[in-house]
Amino acid sequence: MLNTRLLTRFVRQYTTSRAVKITQNGDPTSVLKIEEESIPAVKGSDILVEMLHAPINPADINLIKGTYGTSVPVSSVAGMEGVGIVKNVGNQVSGFKENDIVIPSLNSHFGSWRTQGLFKEKDLIKAPADIPAEYLATVSINPTTAYILLKDFVNLQEGDVIIQNAANSMVGLSVVQIAKSRGIKTINVIRNGPDFEDNVNRIKKLGGDIVVSDKYIRTPAFQRLIADLPRPKLALNAVGGASATELVRILGDNGTIVTYGGMSREPVVIPTSHLVFRNIKSQGFWLNRWISENSLADRTKIINNIFDLYRKQNFKLMIEKHKFSDFEAALEKSQQGGNGRKIVLDLQL
Ligand SMILES: NC(=O)c1ccc[n+]([C@@H]2O[C@H](COP(=O)([O-])OP(=O)(O)OC[C@H]3O[C@@H](n4cnc5c(N)ncnc54)[C@H](OP(=O)(O)O)[C@@H]3O)[C@@H](O)[C@H]2O)c1
Repeated sequence: MLNTRLLTRFVRQYTTSRAVKITQNGDPTSVLKIEEESIPAVKGSDILVEMLHAPINPADINLIKGTYGTSVPVSSVAGMEGVGIVKNVGNQVSGFKENDIVIPSLNSHFGSWRTQGLFKEKDLIKAPADIPAEYLATVSINPTTAYILLKDFVNLQEGDVIIQNAANSMVGLSVVQIAKSRGIKTINVIRNGPDFEDNVNRIKKLGGDIVVSDKYIRTPAFQRLIADLPRPKLALNAVGGASATELVRILGDNGTIVTYGGMSREPVVIPTSHLVFRNIKSQGFWLNRWISENSLADRTKIINNIFDLYRKQNFKLMIEKHKFSDFEAALEKSQQGGNGRKIVLDLQL
């Protein structure tokens, strides 16, 4: 009979992983390939992580398409963020041990869409055990972005107003809740799809003050609706095109529009009069750049602040879990949008 220690060593040496690989840049439905790969034995500075959950974010899709602002080598594993559990560590690893829960410290190059993988200490951040795994899997990019968008561009005080489009996105819903916790009022713009009423109710329940469609903000009725509020100091734009122009029209004089996404794939157009006569400022934000310019301690502090909001029951994420074995269906669902829920892969199913 094989003794347990031998069996463990055998498993550790010949463990395999199922991973979604990027074979070339292009449409994710045709350039992604699911491959089985064997993982070498853990040694030295290696950390073997079993991946638990990972979301499918627009940034993942853009990276696969080759339109993200950075690229990864061919045959890289897709997926920028996720959560996993440490299964084994090499003898030079000092900061992690078996059963630690971990999230990526890096962004684009992590490769979270896999059942397990070998990482180094610098790739990982230890995560608390009292936060649900699917929240840990999704905190690194979208809620973190929301937190920074409300912190770094305009000095917002209690009672100030901000306006945002794509308000039912994960970033948008995080903005609503973080703003609420700081006493900042939000005007939220969403598309008028089949789930419009559900989205309005969800955003209001999470603390959004005003929720309107991208058609309604062009109407006199909308101007009457916001007449009693101070004009927004900050506009958060993830859409571009006409939607961004409307946000600018509603901003107060000297206001700032920050563009962090381009879901419509149309350019941001700001009429000259708003720049010249009203001193509107336009800036961009990219988390990758922020990470390269700030310390891991700064980032961890933000993530911990978000966990604290969750612990105080002031922060919720809308998640729809899909089995990794149904990856194609999950990918397709993630491209449909509309229902305000993030598709998260359950990587062990
Ligand atoms: N700059 C950064 O560092 C950074 C970091 C994180 C995220 N982002 C960006 O932030 C945005 C939101 O990300 P997320 O993960 O929170 O998104 P998400 O939860 O996947 O939601 C996608 C959002 O985009 C909207 N949308 C999709 N296609 C659209 C179109 N053609 N026109 C207008 N709206 C459209 C959806 O509206 P419907 O529900 O109506 O489909 C939904 O609100 C993305 O652009 C993402 O790339 C940027």
